[in-house]
Amino acid sequence: MILVTGARGRVGRAVIDALLATGVPAGDIRGAGRDASRLDLPPGVEPVAVDLTDPATLVPALDGVEQVLLYAQGDTSGLADAADAAGVEHVVLLSSMSSTHHDPADRIGEMHREAEKPLVDADLTATLLRPGAFAANTLDWAAGVRAGVVELPYPDSHVTPIHEADIADVAVAALAGGAVRGTAPTLSGPASLSFRDQVATIAAEVGRDVEVVGLAEDEYRERMSRYAPAWVADSLLHLWAPADGVPQPVHDVTPILGRPGRTFAQWAHDHRDAFA
Ligand SMILES: NC(=O)c1ccc[n+]([C@@H]2O[C@H](COP(=O)([O-])OP(=O)(O)OC[C@H]3O[C@@H](n4cnc5c(N)ncnc54)[C@H](OP(=O)(O)O)[C@@H]3O)[C@@H](O)[C@H]2O)c1
Repeated sequence: MILVTGARGRVGRAVIDALLATGVPAGDIRGAGRDASRLDLPPGVEPVAVDLTDPATLVPALDGVEQVLLYAQGDTSGLADAADAAGVEHVVLLSSMSSTHHDPADRIGEMHREAEKPLVDADLTATLLRPGAFAANTLDWAAGVRAGVVELPYPDSHVTPIHEADIADVAVAALAGGAVRGTAPTLSGPASLSFRDQVATIAAEVGRDVEVVGLAEDEYRERMSRYAPAWVADSLLHLWAPADGVPQPVHDVTPILGRPGRTFAQWAHDHRDAFA
């Protein structure tokens, strides 16, 4: 049995779909979210309630489970203990490329390092997936694309956007016992692109003219403060400022999957309805 936490999340849902596509029976998959009644899972996948901030909720969800896809940030000691006690053999953690930065000003990286360590120390195999920016982050621009103007701090900053289906395919390779199991791969899409390039790709996909307008850091902080604690905006600005006009290293999935990662243009095509 495989437990997929974050089953409503972009990567979690893509992992369930990819497991089914590779022939794993639906009855061998359990999908978890905080509210099991809100999970819209494929037929036969068992819904289960798990709140990752309360490791006790993992105990019933882990009954009979050999492998877990874990969506966790911050201290995972309780989760690692629960997995150990349940006899879980393998945990695939959705971590982040930022965990490799070791930069005290990047709280996002620190939270992911805190999540990785207890799993590495536990008596189980841990696969740490370390993706960079998700292509799906650009869904935040959907209203701007529809309005014809996207406002961004550092519009010429580069990232290497990765399709959630490629992260899922790597997770499934690990769950299937491939060579990536037990490793900590840094993952990216196949190209370094500026935010402006990504807006242009989405605009071309939906056949619209979309202007990109720079946004002052303070204005960005003010807007983000409506949705997230201040350190999130600070950490992101800290990552984007040095990448302004600077292509970022590519860590494509080819060595793991034997094929290149999906392009950002493919991602935009797959999600065109969100912007149209
Ligand atoms: N966005 C990026 O560029 C990026 C890059 C690298 C790494 N990451 C990491 O990838 C992970 C997912 O990021 P995302 O923002 O894209 O997520 P997302 O796909 O929007 O999904 C969030 C998921 O987390 C679940 N969740 C949230 N709090 C939970 C809790 N207390 N207990 C159980 N489940 C909980 C939600 O499930 P319910 O609502 O159903 O409970 C939901 O399925 C994060 O750890 C993030 O740091 C993101």
